[in-house]
Amino acid sequence: MEAYLPALGIFLLYFTFALIPTNLVEAYRLLWVIFSSLNYLLLGDNRTASLRSRSLFSVLSLDNNQLSGNIPDSLGNLSLLGYLGIANNQLRGSIPSSLGNLFLLEHLVINNNQLSGGIPSSFVRLSSLTHLYADANPFNETISSSSLPASLHYLSLSLNHHQSISETFFHNLTSLEYLYLSDCVLNISTTWIPPFQLSELYLVSCMIDSEFPSWISTQFSLESLELSNASLIGVIPYWILGTNSLLKHLNLSGNHLQGRLSSNNSIMHLEELDLSGNSLSGYIPSMWPANISLLLFNDNLFSGNIPLILGQLSKLWLLNLANNNITGVIPAILSNCSSLMVLNLGNNSLDGGLPHEFSKLSKLSSLVVHSNKLNGLFPWSIENCSNLQVLDIGNNLFEGEIPALIGNLSNLRVLAMKKNKFIGNIPSEIGQLKKLQILILSSNHISGSIPHTIISLQAMTSESQDGSVLSISGGSYKKKKIYKDPLDIISKGRDEHYKYILSTLTSIDLSNNELEGAIALDFGNWKGLKFLNLSMNNLNGTIPSSLGGIGQLESLDLSRNKFSGQIPLELDFLHSLGFLDLSNNHLSGSIPQGRHITTFNESCFSQNPNLWGCPLPKKCSWPQFVLPPPIPVNKEKQNTKDSWYGIALGLSYGVSFGGVVSLILIKISWRRICFNKIDTILKFMFPWMKNLRL
Ligand SMILES: *[C@@H]1O[C@H](CO)[C@@H](O)[C@H](O)[C@H]1NC(C)=O
Ligand SMILES: *[C@@H]1O[C@H](CO)[C@@H](O)[C@H](O)[C@H]1NC(C)=O
Ligand SMILES: *[C@@H]1O[C@H](CO)[C@@H](O)[C@H](O)[C@H]1NC(C)=O
Ligand SMILES: *[C@@H]1O[C@H](CO)[C@@H](O)[C@H](O)[C@H]1NC(C)=O
Ligand SMILES: *[C@@H]1O[C@H](CO)[C@@H](O)[C@H](O)[C@H]1NC(C)=O
Ligand SMILES: *[C@@H]1O[C@H](CO)[C@@H](O)[C@H](O)[C@H]1NC(C)=O
Ligand SMILES: *[C@@H]1O[C@H](CO)[C@@H](O)[C@H](O)[C@H]1NC(C)=O
Ligand SMILES: *[C@@H]1O[C@H](CO)[C@@H](O)[C@H](O)[C@H]1NC(C)=O
Ligand SMILES: *[C@@H]1O[C@H](CO)[C@@H](O)[C@H](O)[C@H]1NC(C)=O
Repeated sequence: MEAYLPALGIFLLYFTFALIPTNLVEAYRLLWVIFSSLNYLLLGDNRTASLRSRSLFSVLSLDNNQLSGNIPDSLGNLSLLGYLGIANNQLRGSIPSSLGNLFLLEHLVINNNQLSGGIPSSFVRLSSLTHLYADANPFNETISSSSLPASLHYLSLSLNHHQSISETFFHNLTSLEYLYLSDCVLNISTTWIPPFQLSELYLVSCMIDSEFPSWISTQFSLESLELSNASLIGVIPYWILGTNSLLKHLNLSGNHLQGRLSSNNSIMHLEELDLSGNSLSGYIPSMWPANISLLLFNDNLFSGNIPLILGQLSKLWLLNLANNNITGVIPAILSNCSSLMVLNLGNNSLDGGLPHEFSKLSKLSSLVVHSNKLNGLFPWSIENCSNLQVLDIGNNLFEGEIPALIGNLSNLRVLAMKKNKFIGNIPSEIGQLKKLQILILSSNHISGSIPHTIISLQAMTSESQDGSVLSISGGSYKKKKIYKDPLDIISKGRDEHYKYILSTLTSIDLSNNELEGAIALDFGNWKGLKFLNLSMNNLNGTIPSSLGGIGQLESLDLSRNKFSGQIPLELDFLHSLGFLDLSNNHLSGSIPQGRHITTFNESCFSQNPNLWGCPLPKKCSWPQFVLPPPIPVNKEKQNTKDSWYGIALGLSYGVSFGGVVSLILIKISWRRICFNKIDTILKFMFPWMKNLRL
């Protein structure tokens, strides 16, 4: 028991240091005094578990702190260290060559710091070193082969600013089994025979810039291979997916690979295959090992049908065939993929309907089939896919009404159905979708009025700035990292492609339908809404002044409807508004001469016969008045302001009063302002009066 007391003391000291990130060099010196007298040390994370059993005093783990400054030379005196972990700090300078004295060191973990220079040549003496984690440091000297000990088993030097690596680098590394050299420049001849047998090789974003490196074919026990974004050209060599391959994980995404895949590849062990973003063509192979959990073929030139065999893959959680030329129907048998969480078949040439059997896919989180030729009724079978977050069936030929059961998909966050042939009303049940942040029903034949319940879409009500990425529901961290839902939406009048969806991306697009009636909704609820598009409908009545309460609104399109009456002054409060279109309506009166709204150009207001004022050419020659910033709308102020606004409007129409009366009124106002200091009211009245006078 007593033996642990000094350790406890150090423990406390450790926390003291962790809390004082400044002057760490001093802290280290102090630490060293204590170390050298006790000659051992402390703490640890998961990686240290195996070492701890060997000796309690052989571990120094200071990972994930705010350590800055240089690594002190004196660390090299802790000669009993077996594990040294100083990753995820802000350490600078070069690695002291004194660390080469740690002859018992097995793990050196220095990744994610600001270390420059290179690996000191003294490291070749670290004859016990098996694991070196040095990635994500800005090393600016070439790392020499003669500085790495032959004992290395695991070497990670990724993201080190395009280190150039040649074959001599590996000359002595005969024990290497795990090699991570992402973001490097490889200068290796095609005939090279490496001295090691790897089981994992990651060369992500390495500029290989040639055909598939043939030396990889000498790695007979390779289980995991990533060569993504490495400028590979040519075909995928047969031996990669051959009988003898032990590969479980293969990632060749983002290259320029061409050609067809062998239709009867006999690879036995494969679990994850990512071939996305190449120029591969031909059919999707129809033989797959039963353990496949992930197939990414998107963004290629694949053609032919979806192979029925995929329906037997009970572990498949992700199938992405988007952006190919796949034809035929969506096979009902896919519903046997009981683990399926993501099915993305978007932008192909599929026809037929969505199989009713899909109701069995209880884990399904994303169903994306946009831009095909799918038809039939709304895929009501998805009513039991209660995990569904993203349903994108846009750009197809679906027809019929939107069923009320849509309200049962309580996890839905994105509902995109644009450019189909849907008819009928928007079901009021839509308001039950508490998480819905994107609703796109544009370019259908939807009629009736906008249901009042829509205002209870809760995801639109939060002003949160936290932009977490929408990721699959119910998946592990790893799964969430691999797949993020992409989305195409029209915002601010432009087609935008989002590679992923942030929780702050909120949009309601009901444009180009046959909606009618007035929109008597209290939009003040939708504090978090960014894009609202109601254009090209038959909506009438006045523009609700509560639209002015959507503080984050960036784009508002009410064009090509039958809105009448005045443009509410409140629209001038929309300071984030970058796009506004009120054209082609029956609006009348003067455009509020506020600060923001007049910055939009003429076309935003055109084709409203009775509308006038800047920026329309009618009466546009009046001087512009710069107003002080408007006051946030709260209830009481709103009321006083409304009544004054009413008076102002009355005045603007009261032409019969003539200039004299208005001048008197101006004087009255001036007096009131002077005596009652109702500044706020003047800010609204003043321009109106000026308009009248002129
Ligand atoms: C610790 O190392 C430094 C430099 O590496 C050396 O000058 C010093 O004498 C060493 N101290 C002890 C106690 O060994
Ligand atoms: C590497 O970077 C460090 C710090 O920025 C600098 O002092 C050193 O001269 C650089 N070395 C080379 C070879 O560029
Ligand atoms: C291999 O290691 C030996 C000493 O262990 C060293 O002399 C030699 O230079 C190293 N070879 C290369 C290519 O680094
Ligand atoms: C691909 O690699 C290049 C450098 O070769 C890098 O600039 C780019 O960010 C990488 N792209 C991805 C998606 O990783
Ligand atoms: C699909 O799964 C069901 C059981 O869930 C099974 O009876 C049926 O044979 C499977 N179909 C195919 C073609 O594997
Ligand atoms: C959904 O589940 C319910 C109850 O389990 C069932 O009655 C209904 O038929 C299912 N719907 C579909 C389309 O399979
Ligand atoms: C859908 O929700 C309604 C109530 O809103 C409920 O009666 C019905 O059973 C639900 N249907 C399914 C398939 O869960
Ligand atoms: C393949 O590599 C790319 C880029 O490095 C990465 O974004 C993607 O998630 C990887 N795929 C899998 C399945 O891990
Ligand atoms: C609103 O929708 C219409 C038709 O769908 C489209 O033409 C217009 O560009 C959209 N407006 C905005 C601001 O995105």
